Amino acid sequence: MIRMKTKMNIREDFPALFVLKDGSPIIYADSACMSLKPKPVIQALMDYYTKFTACAGRSPHMFSRETTKRYEEAREKTAKFINAKNSSEVVWTKNTTEALNLGSMILKLDGSETIIATSESHNSNIVKWMFLENAGKIKLKVLEAGETGICSLESLTEAVNECSPGKFLVSLAQVSNVTAGIIDVQTIAKIIHERDGIFQLDAAQSFPHLSIDVQKLDIDLMGVSMHKACGPTGIGFLYGKYHILEKLHPLILGGETVSDVKIPNTIKMLPPPAKFEAGLQNYGGVIAAGAAIDYLESIGMDNIHQHEISLSRVMLDGLKEFGDDLSYLGPAKAEDRAALAAINLKEINPHEVAILLDDMYNIFLRSGYHCTHAFHHQHELDQGTLRPSWYLYNTEEEVRTFIDALKEIMDTLG
Ligand code: ALA
Repeated sequence: MIRMKTKMNIREDFPALFVLKDGSPIIYADSACMSLKPKPVIQALMDYYTKFTACAGRSPHMFSRETTKRYEEAREKTAKFINAKNSSEVVWTKNTTEALNLGSMILKLDGSETIIATSESHNSNIVKWMFLENAGKIKLKVLEAGETGICSLESLTEAVNECSPGKFLVSLAQVSNVTAGIIDVQTIAKIIHERDGIFQLDAAQSFPHLSIDVQKLDIDLMGVSMHKACGPTGIGFLYGKYHILEKLHPLILGGETVSDVKIPNTIKMLPPPAKFEAGLQNYGGVIAAGAAIDYLESIGMDNIHQHEISLSRVMLDGLKEFGDDLSYLGPAKAEDRAALAAINLKEINPHEVAILLDDMYNIFLRSGYHCTHAFHHQHELDQGTLRPSWYLYNTEEEVRTFIDALKEIMDTLG
């Protein structure tokens, strides 16, 4: 139960929920892909573009000073929100994908290091590893995530023990975007650190929904997308322990990454986070990301999580009514999973159903592989799955409406 604001109040914060399609209300069930944006986030973007558009850290004028102030304030808010030791541990990126790619720059790429990932990894957390393995630059171990989407601690420990100490990186999603399984980050960090490995967390699907304390969880590197967390598109961040960021090579080089440049070839790099933020940045996006953090904080992450458990419960109870006509993977209990399901409709094509849900019921969701091709092939879900995903602004009534609509469509097509 969301306590800080009533559920109706929360909905009023999101103008997109009130868009009519063919004169009727819509149901937005695609938040695992992209969350809707609350008014303060939209206002923060508007303010940047109408009141002080400029670049940070360069020019001395008032607009630039205001941009610099708000850009760094957003970094400080973000660092505080995840309990980082200080704001220098937050590096702005485009999204989680870029953050995880940047995190991979810690590798020596001499073929001596092992990467451990799991079979349900999002493409952002597997394609790069496969690419590097093909080029002979790393060894890759992909652990079987199983039906819950969570690889066993035994198999992880075994894989870690097979790696040379200090020569491996484990890169896992805290919440799977297809099985909804939530991993035990703190225990996993302990297993990895006992053998001196690096733990990189894909928090794309967890940061918007769960409270994350990077110090308590002992995470080394973490990628986040703000567009799934009430923030604008095109902005995310990499959190990294400072001593790791100091050793990390930048992905992109250019202006504001150096304190001096001389010819012949002499460059003096700035310390983190500046050395990673080359060129003019997405200032409006960063400032609005700060507004999104304020917004999430005002609701409370524990309130959001509890509300999502209620939505999950309604969805899981509803899906049970279909018996063997459909299936989905992931933990059985609502408490153990995120508020989403990648549903296998067996003989029925998920794309066709997604289109009908939009056409006939104004329900917006995603069908396909959800950027987890390997997972879908492994579980012989080659036609893809239908994925509703719910967030703080959805209601139990909306989830129920989805279940009823799915039933009607499946009865017609089945
Ligand atoms: N990772 C996003 C999703 O799962 C794009 O939909």
